[in-house]
Amino acid sequence: GLLKVEKEPVTVLVTGAAGQIGYALAPMIARGVMLGPDQPVILHLLDIEPASESLKGVKMELVDAAFPLLKGVVATTDVVEACKDVNVAVMLGGFPRKEGMERKDVMSKNVSIYKAQASALEQHAAEDCKVLVVANPANTNALILKEYAPSIPEKNITCLTRLDHNRALGQISERLSVHVGDVKNVIIWGNHSSTQYPDVNHATVTTNSGNKSVRAAVNDDNWLNNEFISIIQQRGAAIIKARKLSSALSAASAACDHVHDWLLGTPKGTWVSMGVYCDGSYGIQPGLIYSFPVTCENGQWKIVQGLEIDKVSREKMENTAQELIEEKELAKSCLN
Ligand code: NAD
Ligand code: LMR
Repeated sequence: GLLKVEKEPVTVLVTGAAGQIGYALAPMIARGVMLGPDQPVILHLLDIEPASESLKGVKMELVDAAFPLLKGVVATTDVVEACKDVNVAVMLGGFPRKEGMERKDVMSKNVSIYKAQASALEQHAAEDCKVLVVANPANTNALILKEYAPSIPEKNITCLTRLDHNRALGQISERLSVHVGDVKNVIIWGNHSSTQYPDVNHATVTTNSGNKSVRAAVNDDNWLNNEFISIIQQRGAAIIKARKLSSALSAASAACDHVHDWLLGTPKGTWVSMGVYCDGSYGIQPGLIYSFPVTCENGQWKIVQGLEIDKVSREKMENTAQELIEEKELAKSCLN
């Protein structure tokens, strides 16, 4: 028979790996959910000293799970060792918000981590390393990481808004009682915060009689323009209220979706939302990490161009951009 040639392993860094998202994410990566069922992986797990015993426990469980794709696990509190030769970096490290806080309330604790880890990544990661920042405030942490790692191409530094995107798909599918896989092309614009704009104006749903716009299918603009938007904007807070902990399984799943689609491509005719370095598309101020609709091919994302934007949308897109401009200033003052 033919000799089966195994692919070279891809090394994935997970920071904050002893935390709740880390615990959900590591086995997903080791099962091929992030990079594909034929892609061997090596996991680098980083956390800080107080969590080092717990991190060891996670490594023990990963060994015990006997994942065929998992070719190695490095569990460490040494950021240089963690960053060495990584191809993909998923940044969960930081402190989550508690009930009653906004995501930017964790700013001063978290941005300094991103400044410090930027240089380690820049110096030790593999060439063309792709970075996904999950820890909040996600967009601004990603921006700080970008600014303190000038040799990493700006296109390689992104933040997670795929969770918000998936939440929007989930709410539409629940409302219409259709499979979530039949809904596509929602958009999350802007910040991963309560100012984000979940936009359904270009979204479609597959029905027996072909594709239909979500607006036509839902047939309730009042719900779409008000309740739907605030459900998505407040979903993170609702999870914290219900679980007394922030979202973890859905965040881990969205992180896999984000990296998977970025590296392996988006299906034809479908876009996803990613927080990316803004080039001025749609009149949004360049130099922010802002969530846009993107398509991906050959490991590169591209902002979907030419979508029609009405006045209401424009205002909401500007509003969330404004918050990111303020966060950027706040982050800089925290770092000084
Ligand atoms: P958690 O507190 O359970 O875990 C975070 C881990 O990070 C802890 O183990 C902590 O020790 C570690 N850590 C702290 N400082 C570190 C450092 N300097 N280097 C490495 N590790 C460090 O939190 P969690 O629930 O796993 O959430 C992680 C982050 O993700 C939070 O900031 C949370 O708000 C954010 N989050 C973002 C999204 C999103 O959609 N963007 C979704 C859910 C959660
Ligand atoms: C989420 O959206 O669930 C996370 O960002 C956690 C949070 O603080 O809302």
